[in-house]
Amino acid sequence: MIKTGMIGFGKMAQAIVEGWNNAKMRDVVEVYAYAPHQDKLKENCARMHAIPCASPQELCQAVDVIILACKPAQVDGVIEQIAPHLHGKFVISVAAGITHERLAEPLIGIPHVSVMPNTAMAALAGTLIVEEPNTMGDKESEMLQMMFAPLAAVVPVSEALFGIAGTISGCGPAFLGLFAEALADAGVKYGLPRAIAAKLSAQTVYGAGAMLSRDGTEPSVFKNEICSPGGTTIRGIVTLEKDGFRRAVIEAIEAIQEK
Ligand SMILES: NC(=O)c1ccc[n+]([C@@H]2O[C@H](COP(=O)([O-])OP(=O)(O)OC[C@H]3O[C@@H](n4cnc5c(N)ncnc54)[C@H](OP(=O)(O)O)[C@@H]3O)[C@@H](O)[C@H]2O)c1
Repeated sequence: MIKTGMIGFGKMAQAIVEGWNNAKMRDVVEVYAYAPHQDKLKENCARMHAIPCASPQELCQAVDVIILACKPAQVDGVIEQIAPHLHGKFVISVAAGITHERLAEPLIGIPHVSVMPNTAMAALAGTLIVEEPNTMGDKESEMLQMMFAPLAAVVPVSEALFGIAGTISGCGPAFLGLFAEALADAGVKYGLPRAIAAKLSAQTVYGAGAMLSRDGTEPSVFKNEICSPGGTTIRGIVTLEKDGFRRAVIEAIEAIQEK
């Protein structure tokens, strides 16, 4: 049993725990959680089958693995509080922009890794970008795989590319949410009831994702297979191109990278 403590129990931490619950991993990972608003924490813990802790220090004493799941600006303060309790623990940071280099000094001598998850872990269809280098030994790498491989594609990425990789998998789902909404709106425009339009657009995004994530599938090849010569899909693709669909997506990523 891997005793795991979430410091910060918001949207991301709960998506991970929902994934463990959905993957029926309650006999693999035992979850402890700390967050400042204790009433809200207790409610969330009861719903998610986690054990609430009154302080980060109490959490550290109970667990083997600590997941830093608070806001990036809170990470320094949290590490300062738990530093005396980290001996023998393994620390995983999910905080955006908190790289291995940034944690090297405060976590000297403690095995740690910076990762970038996404909330699709709740549906066992997530992505976990794992920054390299890190200070995980074989034992910690194995634990990371045991905890996350059932919820996500685990993708190691070099330090230089960690930011852009996290942007694609972290922000990309929101872009797809916008796309799914637009597809459903178009269905409603042509008379589909909202619930049916929403179900069709969600299943279409899900199915395309499942096809695209098959090993070796190139997005362009996948798209070309659906576009029969002189057919309807290619007419839609040409219109999307005219409206700058691809440029808009690439510029959205650029806007995030330049922030
Ligand atoms: N959401 C995503 O899709 C996503 C994806 C990848 C990475 N992340 C990363 O995950 C982290 C959490 O994001 P989130 O979206 O889950 O945010 P969130 O929903 O706002 O949750 C933040 C959590 O941190 C807690 N917190 C506040 N002050 C704290 C402190 N001083 N010490 C410990 N915990 C504290 C909050 O507790 P209270 O509610 O009690 O104040 C809350 O449980 C961020 O670093 C973010 O970069 C998020």
